[in-house]
Amino acid sequence: MAQYDVVIIGGGPGGYNAAIRAGQLGLKVACVDKGVNGGDTLGGTCLNVGCMPSKALLHASEMFAAAGSEFAKLGIDVTPKLNLSQMMAQKAESVTALTKGIEFLFKKNKVDRVIGWGRLAGAGKVEVVDAAGKTTTLDAKNIVVATGSEPAGLPGVTVDQDRIVDSTGALSLPKVPKSLLVIGAGIIGLELGSVWRRLGAEVTVVEFLDRISPGMDAEVAKTFQRALTKQGFTFKLSSKVTGAKASKSGVELTVEPVAGGATETLKADYVLLAIGRRPFTEGLGLESVGITPDKRGFIPTDHWKTSAPGVWAIGDVTLGPMLAHKAEEEAVACIETIAGKAGHVNYGIVPSVVYTAPEVAWVGKTEEELKAEGRAYKAGKFPFSANSRAKINHETDGFVKILADAVTDEILGAHLIGPSVSEMIGEYCVAMEFRAASEDVARTCHPHPTRSEALRQAAMGVEGWTMQA
Ligand code: FAD
Ligand code: NAI
Repeated sequence: MAQYDVVIIGGGPGGYNAAIRAGQLGLKVACVDKGVNGGDTLGGTCLNVGCMPSKALLHASEMFAAAGSEFAKLGIDVTPKLNLSQMMAQKAESVTALTKGIEFLFKKNKVDRVIGWGRLAGAGKVEVVDAAGKTTTLDAKNIVVATGSEPAGLPGVTVDQDRIVDSTGALSLPKVPKSLLVIGAGIIGLELGSVWRRLGAEVTVVEFLDRISPGMDAEVAKTFQRALTKQGFTFKLSSKVTGAKASKSGVELTVEPVAGGATETLKADYVLLAIGRRPFTEGLGLESVGITPDKRGFIPTDHWKTSAPGVWAIGDVTLGPMLAHKAEEEAVACIETIAGKAGHVNYGIVPSVVYTAPEVAWVGKTEEELKAEGRAYKAGKFPFSANSRAKINHETDGFVKILADAVTDEILGAHLIGPSVSEMIGEYCVAMEFRAASEDVARTCHPHPTRSEALRQAAMGVEGWTMQA
């Protein structure tokens, strides 16, 4: 029986980062992964059917849409023709290259890769069953559970990956739908809805709440909804789906107002169900070490330790935002704690990004949260329409809003909607890690002309001296 300092179950951003960090720290480590969606490549949801393929399609479809509209304004006359199979092929090539990259990093850091279904089999033991049905037992001083999550289901809506798809199906539709109904105005619905909208589908989004993107600052969400509506999205808010009937040619969805009222039937070529994800612990053997998941299926932890000695849990399978960088952060902290170091995650500074056009990015508290806490704050705001780089690039939708403590001026939240804001939010993450005041950003020289100047101008606005708007 192989003896390990750490055995990790799951090879997604939680698992693979934990394995690499363990290897770096000289721990004897194995990573057990069963693969996603029938394959056996590393990288979990994120690389195989999540972050990476979705961003590949978002980028390609954004280029397609720009070629069809914005290029002409720049003096480039083209008539773009969609080659969907090439768009899908380049997505698959990028994904393969990235998953191979993790294999390389495992070799570089002396991580033993074990392909198969991992199961806790009592204290310090992990049983792995491979595709041929052969069982191997690994002996571990520490076991890290990083088994991730899967799409949440909805009664009455059966995902068949044919006409009614989840995010995995929506990443590989065989043709551009004439019409796509999306259930859930969250991140997946709006990102993948954007992909198919840009390629020509009529997209209608049915959302239970009276707003899109719960968790996003309300003012930003309103601007975001307006921008998406301008792009041709239709939103049916405060509406609940009560059933879906798929046929060879399409789907009929029955929808009711949440407040009660007449049922209506919506028809479309395809339906995308995207109402959240739930932790994945199927066949994991948690009971063998006495771990009981909470009511929603998450493994409860205290500093990544579960209730079972020597068993840890990180990433989507534990509480907190279901984001790849949150899983990565926990991976490093968990392994460093196992290695006797001081592992730490600052949960208040986990940024969120929606990779649409405009992009939306935020970190820290929203205005609604600060109001609910009764915390006195000041806000500074700057529109991209007044930013010179955004203006010459014809990308003037959106703004930057900075929230700072009314007394100490410490930055409490940054909310960005506009061009390339996914790349800019990191500046505020660093500033907030250093507990910077808004004045620190306002008095930091930023390069001209860049969109990042909007970050500085908004910070100036906290003290009322925005100069360029
Ligand atoms: P996962 O990535 O789910 O990995 C878990 C791994 O464990 C999988 O390989 C699974 O097969 C394996 N496994 C499970 N059980 C066992 C077992 N018993 N034995 C062996 N192996 C097992 N997040 C972002 O931050 N940015 C994005 O842009 C983004 N885009 C997304 C787009 C989509 C369409 C989706 C669906 C998700 C997206 N996410 C994004 C979320 C992100 O993918 C997850 O937060 C992240 O993958 C979680 O990492 P994890 O390691 O906890 O779990
Ligand atoms: P989500 O939690 O972002 O959004 C789900 C939406 O569905 C919410 O607006 C919710 O109110 C709505 N909803 C719930 N039940 C409903 C019902 N019965 N009828 C209609 N609407 C309903 O979940 P989503 O979009 O499925 O994404 C799952 C997770 O994946 C995200 O929370 C995020 O953590 C991760 N993700 C991250 C991305 C990124 O970082 N860019 C991209 C894609 C996914």
